[in-house]
Amino acid sequence: MTRILFVCLGNICRSPMAQFVMQELVRREGLEDRFEIDSAATSREEIGNLPHYGTRNKLAQMGIPMGAHRARQMTGADYQKYDLLIGMERWNLKAMQRIAGGDPDHKMRLLLDYTARKGDIADPWYTGDFDRTFDDIWEGCQALLRHLTNPRVTE
Ligand code: 4NP
Repeated sequence: MTRILFVCLGNICRSPMAQFVMQELVRREGLEDRFEIDSAATSREEIGNLPHYGTRNKLAQMGIPMGAHRARQMTGADYQKYDLLIGMERWNLKAMQRIAGGDPDHKMRLLLDYTARKGDIADPWYTGDFDRTFDDIWEGCQALLRHLTNPRVTE
């Protein structure tokens, strides 16, 4: 069982999008039993809120189902529970390390680290561009799943 937590600032735009994309990719491969996938925020801004309309709209447009999710803040206990904690941008990693008290087990990554095109995923809360965010997240999640199911391909 591999447990993955996607993390962004608010847990309403990028990280729930990554959560539902990854759950869909895993479902398409018939690997649901091998993964537990959730998402969380570094901030307290949006706690209890549903995913942003832009995220819900884009997922619906792409035919990707959304489970129930309300924004929650990452905790120190999440660091113990999850095998991988995946941020969307560098600032997320800094905040995640502050919450977890560092990253002694080297579990923290950026989503685009799994792709050839490393870097940050732009925040659609500010850019309004949910299409571009989706493309980045789709590419990142595909690469992540490939990495986890056949590590030698990408290492
Ligand atoms: P997210 O986008 O981190 O992709 O969920 C944001 C959502 C809310 C805020 C910032 C970013 N906010 O400041 O409330």
